[in-house]
Amino acid sequence: MRTVRFALGPRGYDVVIGPQTIDTLDASAAAAGLADAGAFVLVADRATGPAVERVAGALARLGKPVHRIVLDVAETSKSMAGLDDLYGRFIDAKLDRSGVVVALGGGVIGDLAGFAAATYSRGLRWIGVPSTLLAAVDSSVGGKTGINHARGKNLIGAIHQPALVIVDRSLFATLPRRELISGYGEMIKYGLALDRGLWNDLFLVDPGAVTDAHIERCIALKAAIVGADERDETGVRETLNFGHTIGHAIESATAYAYYRHGEAVVLGMRAAVALSAVRRHCSVAFAAGVDAQLATVPVPALPPLDPETIADAVARDKKRSAGGATRFVLLRAIGETVPDAGVDRAAVVAAFRGLETACISSA
Ligand SMILES: NC(=O)c1ccc[n+]([C@@H]2O[C@H](COP(=O)([O-])OP(=O)(O)OC[C@H]3O[C@@H](n4cnc5c(N)ncnc54)[C@H](O)[C@@H]3O)[C@@H](O)[C@H]2O)c1
Ligand SMILES: [Zn+2]
Repeated sequence: MRTVRFALGPRGYDVVIGPQTIDTLDASAAAAGLADAGAFVLVADRATGPAVERVAGALARLGKPVHRIVLDVAETSKSMAGLDDLYGRFIDAKLDRSGVVVALGGGVIGDLAGFAAATYSRGLRWIGVPSTLLAAVDSSVGGKTGINHARGKNLIGAIHQPALVIVDRSLFATLPRRELISGYGEMIKYGLALDRGLWNDLFLVDPGAVTDAHIERCIALKAAIVGADERDETGVRETLNFGHTIGHAIESATAYAYYRHGEAVVLGMRAAVALSAVRRHCSVAFAAGVDAQLATVPVPALPPLDPETIADAVARDKKRSAGGATRFVLLRAIGETVPDAGVDRAAVVAAFRGLETACISSA
């Protein structure tokens, strides 16, 4: 069993990683000081199947009521309506401030149940049990929770750190291949932006064969960054956004219905690497080498998109500098990024056109 500590003072917590760790959730929860919970409310993605009862069984050993809320999940679950439904069920379960929310699912369940925990009764403690690789290495750790609004994704949210996160890789056995690749894409991001050794190691394994050690490395990299900039204020946490500016634009332009998040990040990283050479943070030859490696990650080819739509989405990106320009995170070397607010619209359009051409030639 491996443990990564998010050292955030009174909001600090452990991420426990290892086989069958969901079956010992009671012991981990007790060690995290959660045995005093008045009740547990388990909010679970139905797709996690038998894991729901395994987690509920472990929680029941703490001797408190365990309420189960099992949901059919889609990105649209992360909505006002989905949140309202959860609040109603919390009230029906007579949950008070001593209640602890347990989120068993991917990023959708984690963001939704985590935000419900942040806001219900002025804030409840919560435990994350990620059931997708993406949630394990990214969304379940770091405390960002929230829902979507009809006008945009993740517009409503709160930073509300979990009190404990349990990563049990056996849950990922039922994930469709594309979900594994999505998580793997996000792991590659950690390597390319922050850790050359991880980047090299990940290309030696299939996306379906990442190990607990790889997962631990990603979470530890995130823990160090969140420890330095919990609220995304100083620019340190922005590093985690590498590949996300154009990645998010591609997700938005395809209505969140074509790419899985980590797949879009792989394409976003390819565009960011190209821009890094254009902005002379690295050489053209270096960028070409990195791109050739990224091109080996199996991601569906781009559908026809208007590059101007991508540029519009980039211009709307919430990561802006004082002057109003979108701030990119670009690459200097493997494991070394540089913020850059000087990327103009024409460069974004050109980088996206380059990506379209590259996708056609590598398809
Ligand atoms: N809070 C953050 O820091 C953060 C970071 C990145 C992404 N996100 C959010 O996370 C969401 C994406 O997360 P995701 O990729 O985990 O998506 P998801 O929660 O939609 O899960 C992906 C799919 O896998 C299914 N699934 C989940 N666990 C399964 C299992 N064990 N076996 C079989 N199927 C399973 C789900 O039902 C769903 O169909 C987005 O809403 C994104 O905005 C948040
Ligand atoms: Zn991401």
